[in-house]
Amino acid sequence: MRHFLTTEDWSREELQGLIDRAREYRDSPQGDALKGKSIALVFFNPSLRTRTSFDLGAHQLGGHAIVLDARGGTWPVEMTDGAVMDGGPEEHVKEAARVLSSYVDLIAIRCFPKFEDWTVEREDPLIEAYAKYATVPVINMETIVHPCQELAHMMALQDRLGDVRGKDFLLTWVPHPKPLNTAVANSAILIASKFGMNVRMLVPDEAYALDPRYMGAAERFCAESGARFSMTTDVEEAYSGAHAVYAKSWGALPFYGNWDAEAPLRARGAGFMIDEAKMALTDNGVVSHCLPMRRNVKIADAVVDSDAFIGISEAENRLHVQKAVMERLAKDA
Ligand code: CP
Repeated sequence: MRHFLTTEDWSREELQGLIDRAREYRDSPQGDALKGKSIALVFFNPSLRTRTSFDLGAHQLGGHAIVLDARGGTWPVEMTDGAVMDGGPEEHVKEAARVLSSYVDLIAIRCFPKFEDWTVEREDPLIEAYAKYATVPVINMETIVHPCQELAHMMALQDRLGDVRGKDFLLTWVPHPKPLNTAVANSAILIASKFGMNVRMLVPDEAYALDPRYMGAAERFCAESGARFSMTTDVEEAYSGAHAVYAKSWGALPFYGNWDAEAPLRARGAGFMIDEAKMALTDNGVVSHCLPMRRNVKIADAVVDSDAFIGISEAENRLHVQKAVMERLAKDA
């Protein structure tokens, strides 16, 4: 039985196979891969795209999706082994995962970190516990990585750039009023490096380096395909010649749980919004964001409304790639 927790566990060929299958579903949306099957979609955080695309995707494949909202629609869950459950959670993941597995054929989880203690949250405890105790495949709908977004992004990049190997990918930190999850940033460098792109990160300060697990994996994937991996604080250097620009904001890990102290560093990135002047430095590059996105904070209207912006295609691709993932995992269920 396979889970889809992180693309690190899947080869480039397997991931390309999922993207190829997604293109078939784009051309021909209906199918029966989930006929008589069901999926539980467990949300600990809000969603527009993920919830809609998984629910609709299951329906188009003849299956049934049950949405559980863990912020009020189902019981709060404890995930720590051996916990004395005298706090908020009413149920342990050991029971929740096994009971859900007795009802449904697939379980999908969205659970962002709590922004309290990265040493704990970097282990992705809730989805790892679900994967351990569930007896059906588990899909990551965004925790500390966002693998479905990765597939949708790579599909959109290939649609516009063709073969992406050897092309220059820039992940740029962009401003946001609050420190955000590193999941999409981690995922962006994982998928771009896995598919052989030269990966550059632009950050306001080196404190915005991502967790070594993801930086290390990206460096390794780049090295395996002869590509380059680098990080810079120099805006011109970063944008120069880029074929693809991905925008994301995230909190600096050394300030995890102590976010007020991060404010002076965030201020260094005040000019990092993607605008036409920066895009003019690229090699006619495309630009994207996972959405939701604050216009004129992260990316200027003129760029979002230009032909270079592929974020809407990427969001549409979520529907297609997730159908490919559900089909693949349901075969083993
Ligand atoms: N990109 C993404 O996952 O969107 P939602 O948060 O709306 O699901």
